Amino acid sequence: MTLPDIIIAIDGRSSTGKSSFAKLIASEFSFLYLDSGALYRAVTLFAMERGLIAVGKIDESSLNAELEAGLDVHFEYVDGASRTFIGDRCVEEEIRTLEVSSWVSPIAAIPFVRAFVDGKLHEFGSRGKVVMDGRDIGTAVFPDAQLKIFLTAAPEIRAQRRFDELKAKGQDPKMEDVVKNLEERDYIDSHRETNPLRRAEDAFVLDNSRMTIKEEVEWVRGVIQGKFGILE
Ligand code: DC
Repeated sequence: MTLPDIIIAIDGRSSTGKSSFAKLIASEFSFLYLDSGALYRAVTLFAMERGLIAVGKIDESSLNAELEAGLDVHFEYVDGASRTFIGDRCVEEEIRTLEVSSWVSPIAAIPFVRAFVDGKLHEFGSRGKVVMDGRDIGTAVFPDAQLKIFLTAAPEIRAQRRFDELKAKGQDPKMEDVVKNLEERDYIDSHRETNPLRRAEDAFVLDNSRMTIKEEVEWVRGVIQGKFGILE
């Protein structure tokens, strides 16, 4: 199935399987995959390492100055997989720790951080043939995206997925910390003032609680066939 030069926007809460789904769509249709959450995570890691988050507070004016000076955050393909870089350093592993997860939502709620990330997404995504995942892609970043999907999954399934993901990366999380982090991020992500998480009115909703990734791809092929009239 060959798709036109469209943008596919995938939004949803944390650990609803957005990135696995988006990566599969990208490989299925030869699209570029852009993980917007990874950019927020990279800004968070940068702020932590620079000491801009101390005693539970974010030094917003210093962070703003660093972003205005042109922080180099980007993606590179390494062995066929998209990886997040700060300058020439691959930070893909470091940005996935629970410590970064515990600060990323407050960082992502800051309007100048959102403007910085949106700028990057527009720069990377303007060519089309892109699948992007996040919280506000279909509502704010690319409101004209030709295909929007909103993923949902049951809370216990999301927590188990995040727990398994951290374990697989060699970390040793406690389930109660994972649940707490998901609840806190859900709250902050959907209550912040600037572009909170919500479903775009024209988004297709997919609850993937009991679906395999293969079934999800079948589902998206059906949606594409119906929407764009492409048969094969
Ligand atoms: O998808 P993720 O869990 O890696 O995203 C990390 C955080 O980044 C998430 O808690 C909220 C924020 N985020 C956002 O505010 N807007 C996006 N488009 C993507 C992520």
